[in-house]
Amino acid sequence: MESVKGSCVLSKMATNERHGENSPYFDGWKAYDAYPFHPTDRPDGVIQMGLAENQLCLDMIRDWIEKNPQASICTPEGLHMFKDVALFQDYHGLPRFRQAVAKFMERGRGNKVRFDPERIVMGGGATGANELITFCLADDGDAFLVPSPYYPAFDRDLGWRTKVQIIPVHCNSSNNFQITRPALETAYDQATRTGSTVKGLVIANPSNPLGTCLDRTTLESLVAFATEKRIHLVADEIYAATVFHNPTTQFVSVAEVIRDNAADPARCDPDLIHIVYSLSKDMGLPGLRVGVVYSYNDAVVRCGRRMSSFGLVSSQTQHLLAAMLSDEDFVGRLLLESSRRLGERHGRFSKGLERVGIRCLESSCAGLFVWMDLRHLLKEASYEGELALWRVIVNEVKLNVSPGVSFHCVEPGWFRVCFANMDEGTMEVALQRIRAFIQGKEAGDGRENNDVGVVKPPAGKKRWQKDLRLSFKTVRRSEEGHVSSSPLRMSPHSPIPRSPLLWARN
Ligand SMILES: Cc1ncc(COP(=O)(O)O)c(C=O)c1O
Repeated sequence: MESVKGSCVLSKMATNERHGENSPYFDGWKAYDAYPFHPTDRPDGVIQMGLAENQLCLDMIRDWIEKNPQASICTPEGLHMFKDVALFQDYHGLPRFRQAVAKFMERGRGNKVRFDPERIVMGGGATGANELITFCLADDGDAFLVPSPYYPAFDRDLGWRTKVQIIPVHCNSSNNFQITRPALETAYDQATRTGSTVKGLVIANPSNPLGTCLDRTTLESLVAFATEKRIHLVADEIYAATVFHNPTTQFVSVAEVIRDNAADPARCDPDLIHIVYSLSKDMGLPGLRVGVVYSYNDAVVRCGRRMSSFGLVSSQTQHLLAAMLSDEDFVGRLLLESSRRLGERHGRFSKGLERVGIRCLESSCAGLFVWMDLRHLLKEASYEGELALWRVIVNEVKLNVSPGVSFHCVEPGWFRVCFANMDEGTMEVALQRIRAFIQGKEAGDGRENNDVGVVKPPAGKKRWQKDLRLSFKTVRRSEEGHVSSSPLRMSPHSPIPRSPLLWARN
């Protein structure tokens, strides 16, 4: 158990290890926090490429807010709504907010499916929504199958407080990490052999970290698997509209599968299917903590709504977003432009990697990251080999990328690299560093550890420690990704030192 001062007076849950912070994924954050990149103040700092944040269209949202002052209760134009909004505390949520979210979910799925606002249950981001649905479906000790590689914070969100076990369904590069029936059966058998009751299968579609969308056949087979086994299927569709390259054809929502297959109860039981969604990625608003569970099961909607009291979306946020998302013209332009900008950024970044012989998973068409294949650079094909390379990338090349082991990837040598949480210039610096690093490696003179591709630590700074368990400094990250040491910038959630989990909802 983690040693916390005074831990004898804390609960076992508060002090156990399932928070997941002790992983390389979060250690990379600490490295960034200790010495973050700034183009002029700290040009040799660590560039944050471990944060799946979509900053590419925030200008459009700011513009909308400026042009619509009546949507906010903190402006002269909107202040007349202050009392109503500030006193509202119904866990059903503002009807106009739920209607607007339902419409937005339809729009983000190419208007191919309909969503009933009455089935929307609020959560605090997808993080809260994932925990809420887990609490509704599973008991202490039950198991969820989760295809790997998977979003590292699933361990915390699905398992920490619920005490549900996560059983990975191992996928590998031989078929581009597709989820197969044999892999599902193996994981299911493994869980049942050890006496666990499997209650569900949780998928992220589009996938974090792969950036791929499930094809319709695979999705249908997952629905059929859940139906046959009488287990739930939770589809985390947080990246539904964070899709580029033919967005309307690439992403298939589980809602479409239900629409087309509900007439065949042997292959599709809607009562077992639940969607988790959030505005953190498609709108780029993770700080507003808007997440929802959309369940096709009446009982889940009922008990989920009661439980949502623990993680509601503030009525002020509901009020603002109800107006913004109801502006259909704006939403249409935003989604189109976001997809275009993401596609462009993804293209430039992956081409830059390609030029130095680095391949990324090819079928990716979604998300805020690439799944980068560095297997050829490993000194040994093991997790130790992967972490050794990762330490060089974080400590010497000064890029915080996330190693595959933290996504429970079975093949060492894959890394997730985020590209949408920075400006163009920072991305170019990152590419230059990678280029120099690879050239140093190719020169074969061991220079990757000193003068090529390596940003020297500033004079007087200690070299990074091998295990990267760093202490925090008080530098803070602003909304724009810059840093500030002003206490005014501190997150209201943050103890000192700030928890890397705040940035880990990504
Ligand atoms: C697949 C997935 N689910 C859930 C989350 C958490 O999102 P939120 O910020 O809405 O809590 C993330 C964030 O990266 C994610 O990638």
